Amino acid sequence: MSQFISVPRGTADILPEEALLWQEMECQTRKIISSYGYQEIRTPFFEETELFARSVGQTSDIVQKQMLNLAAQAEAARDEGSKAISLSLRPEGTASIVRSYIQNRLDKKERISKLFYIGPMFRGERPQKGRLRQFHQIGVEAIGPESSSPFLDAEVIALSSSLLGALGVTDTVLKINTLGTAQDKDAFAEYLKKQLASEISQLCPDCNSRFERNIFRVLDCKNEGCRKALAKLQLDYSYISEESRYYYVRVKEALEGLGIAYVEDPKLVRGLDYYTHTVFEFSCPRLGSQDAVGAGGRYNNLVEQLGGPAVDAVGFALGMERILLAGAQDKKELQQGLDTFMVCLDEQGLSKAFKLLQDLRARGVSADMNFRLGSMKSQMRQADKAKARFVLILGEEELKSGEIALKDMQQGTQERFGLDAVAEIVCKIQGNKLVK
Ligand code: HAM
Repeated sequence: MSQFISVPRGTADILPEEALLWQEMECQTRKIISSYGYQEIRTPFFEETELFARSVGQTSDIVQKQMLNLAAQAEAARDEGSKAISLSLRPEGTASIVRSYIQNRLDKKERISKLFYIGPMFRGERPQKGRLRQFHQIGVEAIGPESSSPFLDAEVIALSSSLLGALGVTDTVLKINTLGTAQDKDAFAEYLKKQLASEISQLCPDCNSRFERNIFRVLDCKNEGCRKALAKLQLDYSYISEESRYYYVRVKEALEGLGIAYVEDPKLVRGLDYYTHTVFEFSCPRLGSQDAVGAGGRYNNLVEQLGGPAVDAVGFALGMERILLAGAQDKKELQQGLDTFMVCLDEQGLSKAFKLLQDLRARGVSADMNFRLGSMKSQMRQADKAKARFVLILGEEELKSGEIALKDMQQGTQERFGLDAVAEIVCKIQGNKLVK
């Protein structure tokens, strides 16, 4: 027997029943996000590796440990004459959206570009519950010279909160923090170094190197010794400028105005380098160790850092698999049935049934049949499985009289129609669909 090849580690198939949940999630997302004025953007699933190194950060775990690279040499060989460029599957969406914003000169089109995306992201992490190598995000990015307002930070947080609520995740904790401007971040890093200098021996080898290269990463470390050292930290925002602190106060006031509860966490720095000012994270404690269902923040320097104009930006991304793990979406409720299933009992009627099936579909009626025919009982069982509201029956008797029977599976009633009376059949099915 041939050897079976299964799905790669950390990835998953989405089977038809689950796909309904995904469709529902995407449909609700699109509706809610567009009500906030965002428009969809689609970027490639892979980009130059350097894009992520320069945005997410060379020293971030994502770039250091989780990038899924494509074979650069092979790419160069295909693309004759080009130098070997390292390509990576996108680990997140923000860098790609900013790249696209710059490349397509979206700054010339709008003072603020409100963009959203739904799609797969790839990180070569050690897979576990809620942590995959291919996962999906719902994300928004508001970029442009007019994106600098504490109300927009609050609006982005409010949007993520209402999305989570609409998708059935209501028991989340929202943590927020501010990192201030780039200068404030430098002061914050110096402050951290001073505070942690006496604890260096307690830190893990990774954090010892992070201490010099990017001290913020120490705050994300899960190592026991590091956590103990971090517990002693006193973070009082003294390293943040007065102006940045005022911006943060206004974000908090705007959240309070909307009745959005939050917990302030001065240690929340997020594992990506591009953030400035507001950062936030929604966690769902029920999910265990991978409890972040979504996160985001402001990134005022990234567009310029990647070669674009000096414009501000803010955004977030939600993890769709984690939403499904946490959510109360009822699978049964979402099971869609067919409008009609065609039961054909006679080989002679097959071509007529086949034609009618196509005519029905062309008029927006969902319809299916089994071309291998089979007994009335087995075909009715199939109709049942397909949750068909109506069953069209074409037996020997109907065929003789040039008719077809339409059975309403909910009412238990049956009517006959001429085999060519497509419009009448559609009318009957659609009419009943409306009063369902
Ligand atoms: P992130 O915190 O890296 O932020 O990811 C956002 C969300 O994606 C997480 O909260 C989590 O729900 C989900 N997620 C991340 N990694 C995995 C994984 N391996 N398996 C399953 N789910 C995962 C970002 O990606 C930023 N781009 C968010 C952002 C947008 N900031 C500003 N704009």
